[in-house]
Amino acid sequence: MRLSQRVESLPPYLFVEISRKIAEKKAKGEEVISFAIGDPDIPTPPHIIERLCQAARDPANHRYPESDSLPELRRAIAQWYQSRFGVSFDPDKEVLPLIGSKEGIAHIAFCLIDHGDFSLVPDPGYPVYSVSAMLADGRPYYLPLREETNWLPRLNAIPEHILKRAKLLWINYPNNPTAAVADLNFFNQVVKFAQQHNLVVCHDGPYTEVAFDGYQPVSFMQAEGAKEVGIEFHSLSKSYNMTGWRIGMAVGNARIINALMRLKSNMDSGIPQAIQYAAIEALTGPQGAISEHNAIYQRRRDLIIEVLNNIGLKAKPPKASLYIWAKVPEGYTSMDFTADLLDQVGVAVTPGIGYGRNGEGYVRLSVTIPDAALVKGLSRLSGWRNIRRRIV
Ligand SMILES: Cc1ncc(COP(=O)(O)O)c(C=O)c1O
Repeated sequence: MRLSQRVESLPPYLFVEISRKIAEKKAKGEEVISFAIGDPDIPTPPHIIERLCQAARDPANHRYPESDSLPELRRAIAQWYQSRFGVSFDPDKEVLPLIGSKEGIAHIAFCLIDHGDFSLVPDPGYPVYSVSAMLADGRPYYLPLREETNWLPRLNAIPEHILKRAKLLWINYPNNPTAAVADLNFFNQVVKFAQQHNLVVCHDGPYTEVAFDGYQPVSFMQAEGAKEVGIEFHSLSKSYNMTGWRIGMAVGNARIINALMRLKSNMDSGIPQAIQYAAIEALTGPQGAISEHNAIYQRRRDLIIEVLNNIGLKAKPPKASLYIWAKVPEGYTSMDFTADLLDQVGVAVTPGIGYGRNGEGYVRLSVTIPDAALVKGLSRLSGWRNIRRRIV
């Protein structure tokens, strides 16, 4: 049997590798405390689950859904964007619900990229941006994100010959993995740059609702002219602890939204309708859970930062996202450090190199770890330095 070149050349998915290593340890009877995955540990709020169960009992929801989803869901998404960001969308032309934002992020490349075209992707970055470009027969061109520029790409440093073949520019704030945030001024510059170079901008914003210390992230769609050049991906995964239900959305430029809908209508048959009703409830029902969850994450963030700084990692408290991006101690690569933590104290973190070359020297920790495991994990992390001292 011969598999396609396309599949053979796929890089291994980072979390699969980490999960495999963790599984190996567990098989040996060792307990691993994981800070590695950004998957909310707190359950979906009960009123959303109630609506889901009720909708699941209705036979009307046992049949094929429409590719562009229920009009009520598209309207709920448009209303949510209006009240949260003050941006209006036509629910019939500028909104498309997705089976989680990841699938939309992967599929959009097929709408925009032809053979040999460049997709401009952040490095470090969520791996799907570059992989989708490769799957669509295009090429990723990596935009380095560095601490000195607050983890924002230097758009003016992209060579002219790359820009000539570039079709798509990916940005993502609040950022995974660096936890950096961007302001409207940056988004306005992105729109201008895209207009100058005829690029489509895809902003990936699943973390806009996970924010701390009173900070409120902005949406790319608030930038002047954003709708002319691009779309934004968003998700109910992190805002409402719904990663398992698989529901997200794309909003913005009607032509791009329509292209994604046409592509997807040939590939999937929509989102299970009971989940669509749960999403409507999440977006239009009580919103109190968001600030409650953020308060929990903020407390965990502060505990983690304190321990990391004590054991020699440099980390600043992030304003938003589920992540802490920490510089590993001198003399370690991100992989060495991750392996050492796993071996010495049974704690899993994510090595920065997994997100691209510029992630080297950093590790990512997630605040989505239940409190009991957090206490245990932090006590183990605190012990790491003493173990190192004994070995050295
Ligand atoms: C930056 C970023 N984009 C998109 C996603 C995908 O989210 P979902 O498919 O659950 O909507 C994630 C998930 O971790 C992410 O970190």
